[in-house]
Amino acid sequence: MKYLKFTLVLLSITLFSCSQKQQTTVSSPDKNILVEFSVSETGEPSYKILYKNNDVIKTSTLGFDFAREMALKDNFEIINTTSSNFNETWQMPWGEQLDVVNNYKQLKIELQESSKLKRKLNIVFRVYNDGVGFRYEFPEQKYLSEVLITEENTEFNLTGNHKVWWIPGDWDIYEHLYNTTKFSEIDAKKFANHENLAQTAIPNNAVNTPVTMKTESGLHLSFHEASLVDYSGMTLEVNPQNFTMKSVLVGSENTSYKVKQKVPFNTPWRTIQIAEEAKDLIASNLIVNLNEPNKLGDVSWFKPTKYTGIWWEMHLGKSSWDMASGKHGATTENAKAFIDFSAKNNIGAVLVEGWNTGWEHWIGFEDREGVFDFVTPYSDYDLQEVVRYGKEKGVEIIMHHETSAATETYEKQQDTAYALMKSLGIHSVKTGYVGKILPKGEFHHGQYMVNQYNNAVIKAAKYQVAINAHEPIKATGLRRTYPNTISREGLRGQEFNAWASDGGNPPEHLPIVAFTRMLAGPIDYTPGIFDIKFNQWKEDNQVNTTIAQQLALYVVIYSPVQMAADLIENYEGNPALQFIKDVGVDWQETKVLNGEVGDFVTIARKERTSDNWFVGGITDENSREMTIDFSFLDKGIYEATIYEDGKNAHWNDNPTDLNIRKIEVTNQSKETLKLAAGGGFAISLIKK
Ligand code: NOJ
Ligand code: CA
Repeated sequence: MKYLKFTLVLLSITLFSCSQKQQTTVSSPDKNILVEFSVSETGEPSYKILYKNNDVIKTSTLGFDFAREMALKDNFEIINTTSSNFNETWQMPWGEQLDVVNNYKQLKIELQESSKLKRKLNIVFRVYNDGVGFRYEFPEQKYLSEVLITEENTEFNLTGNHKVWWIPGDWDIYEHLYNTTKFSEIDAKKFANHENLAQTAIPNNAVNTPVTMKTESGLHLSFHEASLVDYSGMTLEVNPQNFTMKSVLVGSENTSYKVKQKVPFNTPWRTIQIAEEAKDLIASNLIVNLNEPNKLGDVSWFKPTKYTGIWWEMHLGKSSWDMASGKHGATTENAKAFIDFSAKNNIGAVLVEGWNTGWEHWIGFEDREGVFDFVTPYSDYDLQEVVRYGKEKGVEIIMHHETSAATETYEKQQDTAYALMKSLGIHSVKTGYVGKILPKGEFHHGQYMVNQYNNAVIKAAKYQVAINAHEPIKATGLRRTYPNTISREGLRGQEFNAWASDGGNPPEHLPIVAFTRMLAGPIDYTPGIFDIKFNQWKEDNQVNTTIAQQLALYVVIYSPVQMAADLIENYEGNPALQFIKDVGVDWQETKVLNGEVGDFVTIARKERTSDNWFVGGITDENSREMTIDFSFLDKGIYEATIYEDGKNAHWNDNPTDLNIRKIEVTNQSKETLKLAAGGGFAISLIKK
């Protein structure tokens, strides 16, 4: 049922003279979270956050530095406050669930400088039961028409030396392994110059968001941002000694400032998720809720889908993107083989990388502008014929645009490239931004690129095209506003297992990712590797999980495009393929059954188009036993097919030992499962 409730209360606040402290508060609907906002005797704005009467964020100041203007920092007084309640239920066109409850209390504080400039700044807090979002609003005003922000100074002062799961505050890439350390041990700069990265820039001892923490008393916190539009990405600089963090925006070598904006404008929301249990971080919808509703209207032209692709074979070295190598992967014949396999196995789409000219000049080339062409296929790839054949078999082709971070070339060709897709009835594209950004001096996470990524999504929507970006800007919930932002990379994906010189993604990687990167939004991780060791191709690389965990990822990791990434020949004849065939990609409901950050997580999801449920559980390098309580099921009997680690399974010693068994379950049932080291399980629950 959809309902909307909006009440507005004008608070009568006592205006003190500016030499006195002013304070106002707002709490979450359930009253557990309290935000106190103050302006000090010197007019400095600050906030603090309490959870069940205990400090979570200690007094933290707010403000800005500018290139031309005096800093916004102190000398403020509160001229008005407005508080309101909001409670609605909105629907995701596709997603982890259909109905999303958006229930918060809002406090808007209008500040004005008491000195002669009289500049105005509003701060808006939205307090939910699962966390807090706040943003700065620059209202229209006489003495401020444009700002050149050199730094945003938002503090997050912690209450202790929390345990932190973090990646460095890289201005160019999120493809780092997560570190688990005490806050005082964060040392981001030691990750500069990573040999496996085509681009990296870590100028500060800062972390990227989402960054997740656990306090000594067991509370879970995760810091991120929502609705990142026409602004720079935010990293959080840490001061390891006194447990404080401060926003540091991603900059540019081409300008003295980090953000340029016309007044009026709003910053992105700064978000803090607060949860007693780790699993509730995943269940939270704070990030999407802080974004504006769908601006695209009907988006039913895109359908969530599983997909295969001419992709893993390039990462293994079996074939290549370019044609000059003599082992071109994207041939008409190969694409047809993937279409046939997908059609047979309930997989709706095929990604074809390396189909267009330009790949001979991809990696390592300084002058990448003008190299790629997004409409001209290589001579051994008949695009029209492949699309036609796919249609005949009911399989859609996924377009691929590797921009090689040459942004001007891509921008120029977007209309033509998306129009070609529209004419062929292709509704999604995987984009890539490998390498240092052109124009030189820009970074992947700065304002210039934030606009590049967002503009591509908005333009693509006009051609009924959805985007799955690799080397993207972080997800900030904009999928609510522009649902054609279907998925993205923005983490160390499966590809690292194929070639990274550091041994690939360790077994703890995804049990951390589920509580960090995944809080931001959908992930194109590309699971489903069955040939775990792939010694035929690469003796020194492997996937560091069991095959059962590869199956579990179809449920644990959410994405409306979910790849079956392995080579066709590795699927043929393997009974585990049945799970990939059966598993859903679009969900009515999601229940996070258990989890601890970095250790394990189990998620159950109900398919939108059937009465079936699917469960996935994964563990880190430790084996463990867990009992699944099926009370989340609807009434009735289900046939459960359990894909579990075999007796001798182990991510390294015996990764393909898999046991498949069938049982009947109801919502009264419980089942104890064993997860091997680096293992997991997947269950399909088909309603009888
Ligand atoms: C990097 C992407 O993450 C990967 O999936 C893709 O195959 C290559 N770029 C080539 O575009
Ligand atoms: Ca990548």
